[in-house]
Amino acid sequence: MDNRPIGVFDSGVGGLTVVKQIIKVLPQENLVYFGDTARVPYGAKSKSTVTKFSEQIIRFLKTKDVKAIVIACNTVSSNCYESLSETFPELPIIEVVTPGVESCLEATKNKRVGLIATQGTVTSGAYERRLKNADSEIQVFKKACPLFVPLAEEGWTNNEVAKLTVKEYLSDLIENDVDSVILGCTHYPLLKACIGEFVGERVTIVDPAKATAFKLKNFLKSNDMLTDNAGEGVREFYVSDEYANFDKICKQVLKYTCKAEKVDIEKY
Ligand code: DGL
Repeated sequence: MDNRPIGVFDSGVGGLTVVKQIIKVLPQENLVYFGDTARVPYGAKSKSTVTKFSEQIIRFLKTKDVKAIVIACNTVSSNCYESLSETFPELPIIEVVTPGVESCLEATKNKRVGLIATQGTVTSGAYERRLKNADSEIQVFKKACPLFVPLAEEGWTNNEVAKLTVKEYLSDLIENDVDSVILGCTHYPLLKACIGEFVGERVTIVDPAKATAFKLKNFLKSNDMLTDNAGEGVREFYVSDEYANFDKICKQVLKYTCKAEKVDIEKY
């Protein structure tokens, strides 16, 4: 039994889509969320910059005495997971790509898979490598969709601008007869309705968040690290800059009001 909180982080509000799944699967766990709102987006930044940002965030989360870290960001997961695990060997770190790959392997029947993600995730080749390692017949059709991140951060998730952007990015991708599309960025589930409407029912939308939450649960359970809290866990939210939409999006995703506190992340 371990009542310390779980640390979860992302470049901004995207990781809240992972928090939502963690709360569903592990409602009693205490959580500390950090959104790097001062430095979002990560998707177009270099691996060394994103690694430095992630190290600062983990050092901050360590001050909250976290028992494990969930990297609720595909860009960090696909580019920095190995180096972060080496830098912080004392902390169990769960990433989102492997659960995403496993969910996709279950979903695809025709082995033609679409991956939409940030440029950093697409360039890393992390999804493609792991999918092909599991099944060499799988074909991956990739598309970086950087504008989905500011749309999600702005709360423009299903208006005319969002619809046009989805159409512009995904038209070519779905021409490839894909039967599943991986939402390879934790911001993208915020646009899921809009994306789903465009790709149609024939295409399964794979959100790695759910499988990530189950992976976390299994890990905590098998290491006797689940909390013994009787009721709902305590959830704390931190951001690196004031961000007017945080509370609104938090409410939209998690269905309750959460106040985020600002942290000077450069100090860590
Ligand atoms: N939500 C993040 C991801 O899953 C990062 C988006 C960004 O900051 O560009 O990749």
